[in-house]
Amino acid sequence: MSALTLHDPMEQVLEIQALSKNFGRVEVLKGISLSLSSGEILAIVGDNGAGKSTLIKCVTGTITPDGGIISLRGKEFLSLSPRKSMEEGVSAVYQDLALVEDLDVATNLFLGAEPLKAGFLVDRGRMHSEAARRLKELGIDLPSTRARIADLSGGQRQAVAIARAVMQASAGKDAGIVILDEPTAAMGVRESELVLGIIRGLREKKMAVLFVSHNLPQVFRIADRICVLRSGMKLWCGKTRDISLQDVIAMMSGAPPLTAESAEVAGDE
Ligand SMILES: Nc1ncnc2c1ncn2[C@@H]1O[C@H](COP(=O)(O)OP(=O)(O)OP(=O)(O)O)[C@@H](O)[C@H]1O
Ligand SMILES: [Mg+2]
Repeated sequence: MSALTLHDPMEQVLEIQALSKNFGRVEVLKGISLSLSSGEILAIVGDNGAGKSTLIKCVTGTITPDGGIISLRGKEFLSLSPRKSMEEGVSAVYQDLALVEDLDVATNLFLGAEPLKAGFLVDRGRMHSEAARRLKELGIDLPSTRARIADLSGGQRQAVAIARAVMQASAGKDAGIVILDEPTAAMGVRESELVLGIIRGLREKKMAVLFVSHNLPQVFRIADRICVLRSGMKLWCGKTRDISLQDVIAMMSGAPPLTAESAEVAGDE
């Protein structure tokens, strides 16, 4: 797998243009456009059913959009498959994490891409030392790479899932986009802090992070920009410092977006 430092700072790595998706007669995404650069954390917020997961699933290739264009480092796609998306450097951590509980940390990190010796045997020694090196690089402190996932705390599991996503994202053709759906849901304060620290570390390593969350205080602490979705529409997208938490709550919950004029001024897309 390639090194973590991938490309120029603030290079635009993802651009979504006029993305639409219908499920039957229901329009779930109504012409969403947004962009994401390396070294940036973009939060997608919105109430339940706003279309956040559908949007990210279009980027990870698990849902085929009905219209629009997804560009990854300038390469345009009308739709993506999970394999194509991963090849282009996109990797996602979903809420269920999809780790194998009975296997250890290192095995989970390398699942399906284990280092081999003699061409076909898994090189366990190298796998553990490489896993330890990658975790250290991300500032993730775990008891051991030999610990079973089942014996880790929620925050530690999330850390492993993020590390795996980073390794996959940087193994592709280096767009280095990590998508996190509710990474700190149901976590205590200490564990959330651990995960937020890791996400900040990804920004420092110039990865691009798309972060879906209901936790607005956390969003305001770590996101560089925020996109607010409601009923499949992008209501506002702009720099975190240009909007208040109260305004985001108001938009999410159905109040009119600021004024059309101020949204225009503050929004960057
Ligand atoms: N496979 C599907 N078939 C039909 N409708 C779907 C499907 N997936 C999602 N939807 C509908 O699309 C809308 C958006 O769903 P989505 O999961 O994207 O919302 P969300 O913003 O992620 O919500 P939450 O915060 O609850 O996770 C919802 O009304 C949902 O019921
Ligand atoms: Mg969702």
